[in-house]
Amino acid sequence: MAAREKDISTTSSMAATADKHELYEEAVQNVEEEVRFFKATFKEIVGRDALVFREDFCGTASASCEWARQGSDHRAIGVDLCADTLQWGRDKRLSKLTSEEQSRVTLIEGDVLNSPAEAADILGASNFSYWCFHTRADLLAYFKAAYANIKDDGLFFLDIYGGSEAFEEMKEKTKHDDFTYVWHQKNYYPVTAEYICQIHFHFPDKSKMKKAFTYHWRLWTMPEVRELLVEAGFAKSIVYWEGTDEDGGGNGVFEPEERGEADAGWIAYIIAQK
Ligand SMILES: C[S@@+](CC[C@H](N)C(=O)[O-])C[C@H]1O[C@@H](n2cnc3c(N)ncnc32)[C@H](O)[C@@H]1O
Repeated sequence: MAAREKDISTTSSMAATADKHELYEEAVQNVEEEVRFFKATFKEIVGRDALVFREDFCGTASASCEWARQGSDHRAIGVDLCADTLQWGRDKRLSKLTSEEQSRVTLIEGDVLNSPAEAADILGASNFSYWCFHTRADLLAYFKAAYANIKDDGLFFLDIYGGSEAFEEMKEKTKHDDFTYVWHQKNYYPVTAEYICQIHFHFPDKSKMKKAFTYHWRLWTMPEVRELLVEAGFAKSIVYWEGTDEDGGGNGVFEPEERGEADAGWIAYIIAQK
């Protein structure tokens, strides 16, 4: 009897009924702020408005949808390998746009290495997704594909994090209203830089959604990435480093930076120009 009761409470628990993509977006993404940053920084560097946005590793394509909301001349292309995640994005995000806005979003189920489309003003690869490439040869191949997928004056935006804490095996918990987001740096192997990270969600009823997402990455460093961008053909890259608030945490404001500082956990954008 006790076991049966436990089964029932498990299937009706907050973890069993929650939607992992909704939780992920609330915990990890801020597409409004990201699109604002992409647009403003493009204008600052290139001197015109960006209209075509390509979102590699788009997942649920939320940033692409946000881009299409920016105006009737804005077009977005989202690329992801995972059919289920793209379908979730069509059902839960694309469907929230007007039909006219939807007509300006193209979703491609494909590999970022081999999914050509209209050349973009901005190509964004967010949330460290390019770390799925483990060798210099594979990351170079991706950067060459990115180069081919943007216009001559287009920009390639990549995010990156680092600092001593990035190399630690640890869990970091962040409380939200209805759940706790757990970022788990499960394994880091110094010989190969192989890096296994997971996302778990914990709920007020004590139920847990463990391993909602698992990433098998290489932990790349900033100079490695920037050198490979040059090898791929990009003329230069600019680093936009996050500023700090009064408590010493990140303030979400990214400014150009030549050297950075030895913060234990830093985050930055690398913006590559042809
Ligand atoms: C960390 S999620 C990023 C989701 C979202 N773009 C964000 O910023 O949070 C990584 C996504 O990359 C996709 N992915 C991994 N390798 C890929 C590849 N070679 N080509 C296209 N998509 C890939 C996965 O299916 C997954 O949806």
